Amino acid sequence: MIGIFDSGIGGVTVFKEILKELSNYKYIYYSDSLNNPYGDKKEEDLKVITLNICKYLVNRGCKIIVIACNTASAICKDYLREKINVPIIAIEPAIKMVYDNNYQGKTLIMATSGTINSLKFKELFKKYDNHNSLVCKCVGLADLIEEGKKNEIDKYLENTLGEYKDIENVVLGCTHYPLIKNNIKKVLGNVKFYDGSKGIVKELKRKIEENHIKEESREIEFIDSKGKNSNKERFWHLIDESSWY
Ligand code: DGL
Repeated sequence: MIGIFDSGIGGVTVFKEILKELSNYKYIYYSDSLNNPYGDKKEEDLKVITLNICKYLVNRGCKIIVIACNTASAICKDYLREKINVPIIAIEPAIKMVYDNNYQGKTLIMATSGTINSLKFKELFKKYDNHNSLVCKCVGLADLIEEGKKNEIDKYLENTLGEYKDIENVVLGCTHYPLIKNNIKKVLGNVKFYDGSKGIVKELKRKIEENHIKEESREIEFIDSKGKNSNKERFWHLIDESSWY
């Protein structure tokens, strides 16, 4: 069994990539809507929250855990790897993808303040900086996406991204953001998007092989920490990319 978690339904953007290539496994997707958003949480609090989720997933029999949340990865991955006895795979903003694919292009990196303020982000940015990148802290955006407030999302993006001109690359540094690619295009035009989900799939494949985890008939369990049934319905709906906002 493989465990995946995020502060809510955003991690579905990672999970649907996983399912494309690794469909025959048992999965638990843990949506922590009780503690959403993670983006503005204090480091100590986020460590306690995510450690409890990982312990739960391990107790349920998960042999690998995927952190499908950039904020939790940036702040907690080293801590969780010390405390938890199964491999932990962690997403990160796809700055390296820009470095590898369109180094010259003017780039906008969108992420939560938790991610952008983290040391991990600063290190990553420094390592793959194309010297033509701008960083935008999108405070509150993941909450609007989580709540499905479509009109407010459009207003938010107009107000926040309106000042950015001639952007070629957009790094979606929060797993909620791929859901609103079309809304972002309305403001920034026909940009290229980069997110860390493909990297996660590669890494997960490697860990599955290393840990000799066998294929089995597919089962997906969705857990919402608030017990919200509506989130369950949304999750199943969003597994299909054509239903994104
Ligand atoms: N989806 C998350 C991320 O990738 C967290 C958003 C939030 O809870 O603030 O950062």
